Amino acid sequence: MNPSGGGASFPASLVLVGAGKMGGALLQGWLDLGLEPRRIRLIEPQPAPNILALCAERGVRLVQNQTSTEEPPEVLVLAVKPQMLETVAPALAALVGEAMLVISILAGKTMKDVLDRLPRARAVVRAMPNLPAAIGCGITGAIANSAVTPDQRQSADALLSAIGQVEWLADEGLIDAVTAVSGSGPAYVFYLAECLAEAGRAAGLPADTAARLARATIEGSGALLAQRIDQSPAELRESVTSPGGTTAAALDVLMGDEGLKPLIEKAVLAAKKRAGELSG
Ligand SMILES: NC(=O)c1ccc[n+]([C@@H]2O[C@H](COP(=O)([O-])OP(=O)(O)OC[C@H]3O[C@@H](n4cnc5c(N)ncnc54)[C@H](OP(=O)(O)O)[C@@H]3O)[C@@H](O)[C@H]2O)c1
Repeated sequence: MNPSGGGASFPASLVLVGAGKMGGALLQGWLDLGLEPRRIRLIEPQPAPNILALCAERGVRLVQNQTSTEEPPEVLVLAVKPQMLETVAPALAALVGEAMLVISILAGKTMKDVLDRLPRARAVVRAMPNLPAAIGCGITGAIANSAVTPDQRQSADALLSAIGQVEWLADEGLIDAVTAVSGSGPAYVFYLAECLAEAGRAAGLPADTAARLARATIEGSGALLAQRIDQSPAELRESVTSPGGTTAAALDVLMGDEGLKPLIEKAVLAAKKRAGELSG
């Protein structure tokens, strides 16, 4: 691994397969962090106009298909839809060597699924990013198998950090819970924005005003959470809750026996169960 750009430990060469929402965010993040474009090869049969422009502007090599004559890279990043693994694997299998690190962000595909499809691969990192990766504010749960060397893990960390924070897991069995909390989590927050707007409308506000208030409240609270890392969410909540006040009146409802906590627990368990079913 040759360090390059921003102090990050980027690989000397990598192939990215698929530049949709997530692959595109990774590519943009790597280039923004200073990964030399000539080290990247992108395999994408139908690149979106923004990806075409990015590759042309920065000098990233873009090919439609893997050909057997290509040089094997140090790292192979799989970012196609999970159901495309079967389709892309035969062409990639010839490229994979024992020294290569394969990083898969394919939801529901286990490390065994990847190793079964790419039989010469040894080192695999399975990662579960989330949607805010699109703006570099994601969080990715990642797990490395025992064949991953410390250098490869550092390289995976540098590559995944380009779209936000990385949380390394000790056990692949935890990935369904990560999917249920942070993978699906952005949708819960968006739904909270919808519910808050709807409740504002029910409380008498014009619908557009309620929608703006709800959206900006979630945006601002998220930004505050991000900035005030020395304070826990509970401390931030307590800092805006005066005893007997309006916030306390609402929290009495939200924090009651039938409140948000058991509901969120139930929702997360349902997502975890479904993640298990989809990967089983
Ligand atoms: N989006 C998320 O929030 C999220 C979160 C966690 C994990 N993931 C995982 O990330 C992966 C990508 O998801 P996404 O949302 O980025 O999907 P996406 O936008 O559909 O991106 C997949 C990309 O792969 C391309 N592709 C299809 N066939 C290919 C081939 N033979 N060779 C190379 N590229 C090919 C697709 O092109 P076409 O459009 O032409 O088919 C598309 O550009 C998925 O496995 C998903 O489980 C996504």
